[in-house]
Amino acid sequence: MNRIIYNPEQDEMAEEKKKCWETIQDQVKKCILCPLHKERNCTVFGEGPRNADLMFVGEGPGADEDREGIPFIGRAGQLLTKIMEAADISRDQVFITNVVKCRPPNNRVPMIEEMMACSSYLEAQIAIINPRIIVCLGSTPTKWFLKSTEGISKIRGKWFSWRGIDLMPMFHPSYLLRNQSRKPGSPKDLTWQDIKEVKDRLEQRASV
Ligand code: URA
Ligand code: URA
Repeated sequence: MNRIIYNPEQDEMAEEKKKCWETIQDQVKKCILCPLHKERNCTVFGEGPRNADLMFVGEGPGADEDREGIPFIGRAGQLLTKIMEAADISRDQVFITNVVKCRPPNNRVPMIEEMMACSSYLEAQIAIINPRIIVCLGSTPTKWFLKSTEGISKIRGKWFSWRGIDLMPMFHPSYLLRNQSRKPGSPKDLTWQDIKEVKDRLEQRASV
């Protein structure tokens, strides 16, 4: 028997959220709030479901992402996809985005002014998605969220509460590409532990 559970509040919210989402998508596409817009080919809004439980936040688009308009599709992105899938997290369940939506020239770290200009987009994305867990990849998003200058090696793998959302910093996959060792305690080994933690917490939270 099919049972339809009617929840008008949820329905109305869904419609509102969809409208808001489309508005932000449109604003990002046309954005000229910082100088990064001058050299971009594509903006990279993010990819994944609007109701994802899990969100990954990177630094900013690289060359491949700038060409395609999709986050994490280059070498680092392929490694990220493998890491998720090794922990049985399917990439298409995750919303993936970056602190800045346009590529910084030569993949340099985004400047504070650029991150600030772009902040309201990430804020709005998080508000609409309302994920259970946020993973920030590398020091740039970690600084954005935690306003901390603590090095990524010190705080990766730790859980933080960010506005009530569980947040964990992990190494950036580009860093793992430069550090290929899998020995116990290596960045890859630690990342494997971290992603398993994320998967475990995702399952715990899902069963509540
Ligand atoms: N590195 C990032 O931080 N983000 C991407 O989308 C690609 C590479
Ligand atoms: N520096 C970063 O920005 N990210 C890492 O993951 C490691 C070093």
